[in-house]
Amino acid sequence: MTDPILEVEDLRTEIQIDGRWLPVVDGVTYSVRPGETLGLVGESGSGKSVSAMTLMGFVGRRRGQRLSGHASFRGQDLLGMSERDLGKMRGNDIAMVFQEPMTSLDPSFKVGNQIAEGIRLHQGVSRDEAMRLAIEAMDKVRIPNAKVRADSYPHEFSGGMRQRVLIAMAIANNPALLIADEPTTALDVSVQAQILTLLAEMRDELGLAMIFITHNMGVVADICDRVAVMYAGQIIETGEVRETFADPQHPYTERLLASMPRLRGERRQLEWIPGTPPGPAGFAEGCRFAPRCTHARDVCLEPTTLLEIGGGRANRCTRDVEWKEEVAG
Ligand SMILES: Nc1ncnc2c1ncn2[C@@H]1O[C@H](COP(=O)(O)OP(=O)(O)OP(=O)(O)O)[C@@H](O)[C@H]1O
Ligand SMILES: [Mg+2]
Repeated sequence: MTDPILEVEDLRTEIQIDGRWLPVVDGVTYSVRPGETLGLVGESGSGKSVSAMTLMGFVGRRRGQRLSGHASFRGQDLLGMSERDLGKMRGNDIAMVFQEPMTSLDPSFKVGNQIAEGIRLHQGVSRDEAMRLAIEAMDKVRIPNAKVRADSYPHEFSGGMRQRVLIAMAIANNPALLIADEPTTALDVSVQAQILTLLAEMRDELGLAMIFITHNMGVVADICDRVAVMYAGQIIETGEVRETFADPQHPYTERLLASMPRLRGERRQLEWIPGTPPGPAGFAEGCRFAPRCTHARDVCLEPTTLLEIGGGRANRCTRDVEWKEEVAG
C-alpha cells in the first residue's frame, strides 16, 4: 500500500468568541493516500470546513484564532509553513473546490482568463501557453467546445458547467490532493451525479488523493473509499465506507445512515435525529452526542477517545466495549 500523502494528527482549531476560546475542531486525526477518497461527513457546524480551511491556512492563523496538532503533506509540515510557502502550495499541489461556484469566480473576467491566470501564477508559463493549458483543462472536465467557451463569462454558464470550470481550475496545475467542500450541494440531483462522476474520473485519471466534504451519506457511499464522521468538532467514527455503512459502531453514524433516503429497496420510515447539534460553546463534557443519544448511560459522561477496533476502524462510543467486557467478565 502506498504511503499517505497527507497525515493530519490531533488537529485543533480554536476561535475566540466573547473572550472564550472555543474548540471548533477538536483533535482530528486522519490520513489520505494517493488515488483514495476520504469523506468528511457530519451535520452543519460539525467543523468539516474549518478543519480543511485550517490545513490550507485560511483559518487558525489570524487574530482570535489559534491552532495546534500536526499536518504533513508529502512530509512537509503544513501547519508550521510560512504563509508564503503555503500560498505557493495552494492551487498547485493542493487544490480546493468549494460549494458555490459563483463566489469563487470573478463575474467580470472570462473563464478562460481566470483559469489561465492561476496557471501563469503557479507555472510561470507565457500567456499563450497558459491559455492553451486552460482550454486543455476545460476539455478534460468535458466542457463542450472548450476553446469557444473559454471566451465566456461565468454568468453565461449553467450551475453545473460553472462547477466544471472550478474543477478545471483546480486540476489545471496538476495537484496531488484535491479538497472538495460540498461541491455539489447547490446543484440539482442529475447535475450533482454528473459532477460526482467527473470528480471520480479525475481522481482515477490523475491519481489524485481527495478529501470530500459533505453532509450527505449517499454521496459518501457513491464516491468515497473511507469515511470520517464528524460531530461537534471531533471525528466520532472512521473506517472503510463499505464496512462502516454495513455495520456502524457509533449511534450517531447509525442515525445518520437511518436518515438517508434510498433510491432502491424497501420503502421505510426515514428517521431523524431529535435535538440539534451543539455549538462549540455548549459541547458536553463527555460524549458530545450523549444528550441526543438513546443509548446514553453514566459512562458517557466520561471524556471519549477514538478507540481502534481493527481493520482501520475506530469510534468513540463505549457501548460495545462495555458489552464486550460484560461478555468476557
Ligand atoms: N470565522 C469563524 N468565526 C467564528 N465561528 C466560526 C467561524 N468559522 C466557523 N465557525 C464555527 O465553527 C463551527 C464549525 O463550522 P464549519 O464551517 O467547519 O462547519 P461545517 O461542518 O463545515 O458545516 P456546514 O455543513 O454547514 O458547512 C460552527 O459552529 C461555526 O459556527
Ligand atoms: Mg462547511
